[in-house]
Amino acid sequence: MTEAQNGECPPLLFFDTGVGGLSVLGETIKLLPNAPIVYAADYAGLPYGMKSEAELAARVPALLGRLVERYKPQLVTIACNTASTIALDHVRSALDIPVVGTVPAIKPASEMTNTGVIGLLGTKATIRQPYVDRLASDFAADKILLRHAAPGLVYAAEAKLRGEKPDVQVIEEAMFGLIDQAGGKNMDTVIMACTHFPLLRDELAAAAQRPVQFIDGAQGIARRIAYLTKNTIWPSERRDGIFVTTGDIADIEPYRPAFAEYGIRRFEKL
Ligand code: DGL
Repeated sequence: MTEAQNGECPPLLFFDTGVGGLSVLGETIKLLPNAPIVYAADYAGLPYGMKSEAELAARVPALLGRLVERYKPQLVTIACNTASTIALDHVRSALDIPVVGTVPAIKPASEMTNTGVIGLLGTKATIRQPYVDRLASDFAADKILLRHAAPGLVYAAEAKLRGEKPDVQVIEEAMFGLIDQAGGKNMDTVIMACTHFPLLRDELAAAAQRPVQFIDGAQGIARRIAYLTKNTIWPSERRDGIFVTTGDIADIEPYRPAFAEYGIRRFEKL
């Protein structure tokens, strides 16, 4: 049993730059509906996809250290591919609680493809990571893996969750960036290797204009979180989750309805 001294069940902490982590949180609350949730967004640092490896390797563990000190979670999920592929090891060595990362779903995509051509959409920083090269050579060496950086999709997903209409042209350009590469016409599977992108699944599927299956890591991460917390006694009912931002708290206003759908109704500044 994992219980804090005051009898409160320690929360699960999710970390991303913005709303992307909601795609991971959504799958997690299907399995653990009463888990207390703290959702941290480093809006002051968005977009991570445009930052250097050195900057993220320093920033992410430092922020998570402060968050863990304040909220005393039982487990941290880095619900961001960019932060995970760069800083997962740094965070694990800085914290003494379990840390779950989000890495591109190359292995399951490789098992799903029929044509052998897989697309990978991520941020600029994610698609150049040696971590991705390793996954590709370990699990998709006999496949064609097309990579494309689609930083505009991060903003399109943010807009959608503020209740605005996402920019269709940006979404079409992202799909075209894969289809237009050598072999792209035969692509039948697309990995959404940024947690913001599953929030645009329908829009991406429409822009593909062909039958393409989309995959992300959220379900696997949710199962991993459930497994690692299998001895936890969760509260008997769901309490309001907490959102904490490094940015300006006033900027959160338009996102409130979207966060409420995930049970998050308390808003704080780090
Ligand atoms: N959601 C983050 C990811 O999964 C990236 C967004 C950003 O560039 O800040 O990579």
